[in-house]
Amino acid sequence: MRNKITIVGAGFVGATAAHWCAVKELGDVVLMDIVEGMPQGKALDLLQAGPVEGYDLHIVGTNDYKDTANSDVVVITAGLPRKPGMTREDLVSTNAKIIRSVMENVVAQSPNAIFILVTNPLDTMTYLAKQISGLPRERIIGQAGVLDGARMRAFISMELNVSVENIHAFVLGGHGDEMVPLARYSTVAGIPITELLPADRVEAIMDRTRKGGGEIVSLLKQGSAFFAPSASTIQMVEAILKDRKMILPCSVYLEGEYGLSDICFGVPVKLGRQGVEQIIQIDLTEEEQAAMDKSAALIRSSMAALEL
Ligand code: APR
Repeated sequence: MRNKITIVGAGFVGATAAHWCAVKELGDVVLMDIVEGMPQGKALDLLQAGPVEGYDLHIVGTNDYKDTANSDVVVITAGLPRKPGMTREDLVSTNAKIIRSVMENVVAQSPNAIFILVTNPLDTMTYLAKQISGLPRERIIGQAGVLDGARMRAFISMELNVSVENIHAFVLGGHGDEMVPLARYSTVAGIPITELLPADRVEAIMDRTRKGGGEIVSLLKQGSAFFAPSASTIQMVEAILKDRKMILPCSVYLEGEYGLSDICFGVPVKLGRQGVEQIIQIDLTEEEQAAMDKSAALIRSSMAALEL
């Protein structure tokens, strides 16, 4: 049996995620959107790249949730992206309405799926999805830390002229301007960047990481980043479908971990076929924990706008 992956929202992030899924041959893909014709057109186009790229998959576009039935993984990218000058939190009320309707429909069709949220404000939308679906926290996961870590890895690579493959970076906390890049746990060939770079360069890299999404929004003028967000999402899908037990920072519902409860927040987790199979607690300094608490406060202020 082939895996079935539904992607709700066939815009920039969703369609590019479908592309990565196809190239990696992770399973059959359903692209779902409310705009008539658009997901069908993109799916057909992607299907027609198969003979060139050599993938044999079913790829369909639809406006009908029935076609998403019995998916193994559902990726949710439906919702508005930011415009220049907007924070992710500015999207909360519009995107909450969309996430509410999408979750009701997809969960009804695929009650056993693992759900990956991508829509911003990410942690707040993940929390909303968790609360309205009532699903266990193992199966509602927000994508943020993989992307933020990838941005930080790219910036470290640019700074040191070292292969990205040698670089590991941990960015925890909320997916907002108060996210928490952890320099001590960010390494080049196992060596913490704090030992390789002067403090002001480490701070500059962390600052650019925090503002990484905004930097792209300002350059694009309309819409937000989509290549790295979709690639990050599909790394999570792959870890789940291949049961890789990969440790990745993801937004999950916390029940006391890192001193936080009743919030979805970015922490390191082990991803496998069951979804979140373990939440990993790493030691934080007082300063790092304070940064986590400040980040959580920003997420809670956007959660306050939810009508649950
Ligand atoms: N059901 C299904 N699809 C929907 C719905 C809905 N109720 N409402 C909107 N959509 C679709 C839109 O029709 C559009 O095709 O979601 C898609 C969003 O695509 P884009 O506007 O291209 O936005 P994108 O850049 O893909 O970002 C999507 O991901 O990274 C986040 O901040 C970003 O919240 C944004 C989301």
